[in-house]
Amino acid sequence: MEGFKIRLLLTVSIFLSIVNANRTVFINPYNRWQVFEGWGTGLCWWANMVGGFPDVRDKAADLVFDLNKGLGLNVIRYNIGGGDDPSHHHMRIGGDVPGFLPCRTCPYNWTSDANQRWILFAAKERGADIFEAFYNSPPYWMTNSGCSAGGLEFSDNLNSYYYDAYADYLIEVVKWYKEQGLTFRTLEPFNEPTDRFWNYFGYQEGCSYNCSTMNIIIKKVGEYLNEKGLSNKTSISAFDENKIDEEVYSEHCIDNDAKSYISQYNTHTYGGTQRMQLFNISKQDNKRL
Ligand SMILES: *[C@@H]1O[C@H](CO)[C@@H](O)[C@H](O)[C@H]1NC(C)=O
Ligand SMILES: *[C@@H]1O[C@H](CO)[C@@H](O)[C@H](O)[C@H]1NC(C)=O
Ligand SMILES: *[C@@H]1O[C@H](CO)[C@@H](O)[C@H](O)[C@H]1NC(C)=O
Ligand SMILES: *[C@@H]1O[C@H](CO)[C@@H](O)[C@H](O)[C@H]1NC(C)=O
Ligand SMILES: *[C@@H]1O[C@H](CO)[C@@H](O)[C@H](O)[C@H]1NC(C)=O
Repeated sequence: MEGFKIRLLLTVSIFLSIVNANRTVFINPYNRWQVFEGWGTGLCWWANMVGGFPDVRDKAADLVFDLNKGLGLNVIRYNIGGGDDPSHHHMRIGGDVPGFLPCRTCPYNWTSDANQRWILFAAKERGADIFEAFYNSPPYWMTNSGCSAGGLEFSDNLNSYYYDAYADYLIEVVKWYKEQGLTFRTLEPFNEPTDRFWNYFGYQEGCSYNCSTMNIIIKKVGEYLNEKGLSNKTSISAFDENKIDEEVYSEHCIDNDAKSYISQYNTHTYGGTQRMQLFNISKQDNKRL
C-alpha cells in the first residue's frame, strides 16, 4: 500500500536518436513533465454486474483494488446512470445502469444502482483515493429521443428544456455521495460528446453535444457546485472524447468562462495524433491532464 500512496514524480525526459534501428535513450532527471497519481479503472459496466454477485465480489474487489492481494488500482471512474425507459431492452449486459431519478415528478431513489455502489465503496475501503463521477447520458425523460442510448440519427439528445434539471441532477448525486462519505474530486457531465456515436436504441448509454451546449452545461454545473457548497472539493472535468484530436478540438472550442470551472482534461486515446498539442493546451490552460 505504502509505495502506491506516494505520488511518484516522473522526472524523465527522453531524447531519441535512432542509429540503425538501435535506440539510444538519455534520461534527464531535471525536466519535470507531470505528476503521476496512480492507476485506475472505469466501473462501467463490470461493477454493475460483479457488485451483484455476493459470493465473489469481495474476492474480485481484493484482486482489483487491494495492493497486497491484487492490482491496487486507486483511481476510480464511477458512472452515474441516466437510466433508460423501463420499457426499453437494448443495452449490453451490465450497460443498463440505473439512474436515481426515474421520472420527472419522482423523488430521488437512493437505493438505486446498489451493485455499482457496492464496488465503489469496496474500492475506497481497499485504498482507492481518487474518484471521478461521470455521466454517459441524462435520464431518458430529459432527452429528445426518449432513450438514454442517444438521439435519433445520432443527433444531440439533451432536451434544452432540461438543461437546469440535468445540471441539478449531476450535483444532487455528487452531494448525496459526499454525505455518504465519498467525495468525487471531479464531476464530468459528458462522455465522448463529439464523435456522434450515440444513437437511439444503441447498446449503451450515450449523448452527443455540440460545443455551445457544452458551454451552457459546464457553466450551470459550475455555478451549482458553488451554490451547493461543493466546489471546494469537487470541480469539473471534461471532455473524455474518444480520440485525442477531438479532445484538442473541444478544448479549443470551449469558452473561457466555461473553462474557468474545469480543473482537469480527460481523453480517451482510441485514436488521434495530436499528443503534443494536448499536452501544450493543458499546460497553457493550467489543467490537470
Ligand atoms: C544494436 O547494437 C548492438 C550493439 O552495438 C549490435 O550488436 C546490434 O547488431 C545492433 N542491432 C541493430 C538492429 O542494429
Ligand atoms: C428504487 O430502486 C430500487 C432498486 O432499483 C427499486 O427496487 C425500487 O422499486 C425503487 N423505488 C421506487 C419508489 O421506484
Ligand atoms: C447546438 O445544439 C443545440 C441543442 O441541440 C441547438 O439548439 C443549437 O442550435 C446547436 N448549435 C449549433 C451551433 O449547432
Ligand atoms: C472553501 O474553502 C475556503 C478556503 O479554505 C473556505 O474559506 C470556505 O469557507 C470553504 N467553503 C465551503 C463552502 O466549504
Ligand atoms: C508545444 O510547446 C512546445 C514548447 O513551447 C513547442 O516547442 C512545441 O512546438 C509545441 N507543440 C505543439 C504541437 O503545439
